[in-house]
Amino acid sequence: MLRPAGIQNPAYSPLPGLSFMEASAMHRITPTEIRKRKKSGPRLTMLTAYDYSFARLIDGCSIDMVLVGDSLGMVMLGYDSTVPVTMEEMLHHCKAVNRAVTKAMVIGDMPFMSYQVSREDALKNAGRFVKEAGCDAVKLEGGRVVARTIEKIVSAGIPVMGHVGLTPQTASSLGGFKVQGRNIEEAKKIFEDAVAVADSGAFAIVLECVPAELSGLITETVDIPTIGIGAGNKCDGQVLVTHDLIGLFEKFTPSFVKKYVNLAPDIKNAIGLFKEEVEAGEFPSKKESFSGGEEAVSAIKAKKN
Ligand code: KIV
Repeated sequence: MLRPAGIQNPAYSPLPGLSFMEASAMHRITPTEIRKRKKSGPRLTMLTAYDYSFARLIDGCSIDMVLVGDSLGMVMLGYDSTVPVTMEEMLHHCKAVNRAVTKAMVIGDMPFMSYQVSREDALKNAGRFVKEAGCDAVKLEGGRVVARTIEKIVSAGIPVMGHVGLTPQTASSLGGFKVQGRNIEEAKKIFEDAVAVADSGAFAIVLECVPAELSGLITETVDIPTIGIGAGNKCDGQVLVTHDLIGLFEKFTPSFVKKYVNLAPDIKNAIGLFKEEVEAGEFPSKKESFSGGEEAVSAIKAKKN
């Protein structure tokens, strides 16, 4: 059996709990498979994950792509925006997610200023997502201004997902977190940006907060899948921040989000019950306690007296 170079131990498995044979029979969805789905369907699904437990749940539901989004800055780290997120923070979370995922493609989101300073810098940082954190691809925000950067990363063998429309890292220069592309000038810019990203070799592109008609036109025009978030129903796939979808992030919820479940109240209720029961001496009960050890306790007591 073929094993990756250096792995001579037959008991080795890259995935805890699975034999090497089982692990190698599985493979993560590739950019080629993602691209094919534009024609063949079904529509693509992508969700964010920032840790091992959530990544495992999402992968277990056969979601196509897991995005370790820089939204983690707001959702997990409590920043006011995605701007302060660092490469080290992204890599830390990407490593945890990559330990869990077996089937989905894992995409690391390049943080603000990790790809804008120079193309060399961008390639070096993209490489860290793959080499150090085990990601399959990277995502970066922007249109024509990052097209050459995308080309450079792709030509080094790292798949890139683009992101146009509302680009949260530069939201302040776009007038804040609001729909983009309602007037002719903005719509033309977003359209041209999307075409430039597709032409630069990206395998897919996120369209964020753009009118449904515009994302429909982009979807018809480019030959790579479009993944919408607040971009209507004409895209080739959809992405949401998982914490929004399950009602875990209470600070704000964008109007395009559908909460499939609202977990925050249930979680607070459970925490409140824990507090009540501990304060009343009801938890832990016998059921949650260990029995035995009476003799040892008696012996200690006897010594004490
Ligand atoms: O950071 C993120 O989670 C994203 C998605 C919302 C597309 O970029």
